[in-house]
Amino acid sequence: MSAERDLTIALGKGRLVDQTMELLGKCGIHCEEMLDKHTRKLIFRDQKHHLRFFLAKGPDVPTYVEYGAADIGIVGKDTILEENRSVYEVLDLGFGKCRMCVCGPKEARELLNHREMIRVASKYPRIARDYFYNERQQTVDIIKLNGSVELGPIVGLSDVIVDIVETGSTLKENGLEVLEEVCPLSARVIVNQVSMQLEAERIRSLVGQMRAHL
Ligand code: PRP
Repeated sequence: MSAERDLTIALGKGRLVDQTMELLGKCGIHCEEMLDKHTRKLIFRDQKHHLRFFLAKGPDVPTYVEYGAADIGIVGKDTILEENRSVYEVLDLGFGKCRMCVCGPKEARELLNHREMIRVASKYPRIARDYFYNERQQTVDIIKLNGSVELGPIVGLSDVIVDIVETGSTLKENGLEVLEEVCPLSARVIVNQVSMQLEAERIRSLVGQMRAHL
C-alpha cells in the first residue's frame, strides 16, 4: 500500500487558534510548535497522524481550501459567508460565538425603519449587501473598511455599521448599540470538495473526533 499522504489543515490566525489547538489536543493531535510566538515557520507537521498545519489570514483560509492547497480549514462563519467560496461546511465547532449585527447610534433606528438611503460601513461588504438588498430589500450605500469599523458613525463616514458583536463592550464604549441582528456566528470546519470524496474516510474520522470532543 502507498504511504498515506499528509492531510493539510489551514487555521485562521487570531481569536480561534487557541481553542482550535485545544480541541485538536483532545483528539490526540498536538502541534505545540505552532503556538511558539517567536517562530517564523509557516507550516508544521504531525508525523504520527500524517497531518500538516498552517496559519493563514482568516479570509485566505476558504481560498486555500477551495483550491485544494488545504484539505480542511477552520475559520469563522463570518469569513465563510464573506468569502463565498466553493467549499463544504461540515461542522459547527460552537466556540468563537458572536453575532453579525447592524449597529449605530440609537437615532439611526429611525433611518432603518424608514428605509432611507443610508451609508453602511463594514469589513464585510458582501454580508452587508446581502442583508440590506436581499433580506431587507433596502437600497443602501456600502462602504468597505478594514477595521475599527465603529469609527464610521462616530466620525460621520456612515450612518450604521455591519460588524461582529461579541461582548458588546466596543459598541458601549463608543456610544453605539445593536440595531438589528443579521446572523449568529461561530467557528466552523470547512472541507475541499475533491478531498471530501478522495479522503472521505480520514476526513470523516477526524471531523467525527472533533465533534465527539466538543
Ligand atoms: C471585532 C469587531 C468589533 C469587536 C467586537 O474587532 O469588529 O470591533 O471585535 O467585540 P466586542 O463586542 O467584544 O467588543 P477586532 O477586535 O477583530 O478588530 P478590528 O475591528 O480592528 O477588526
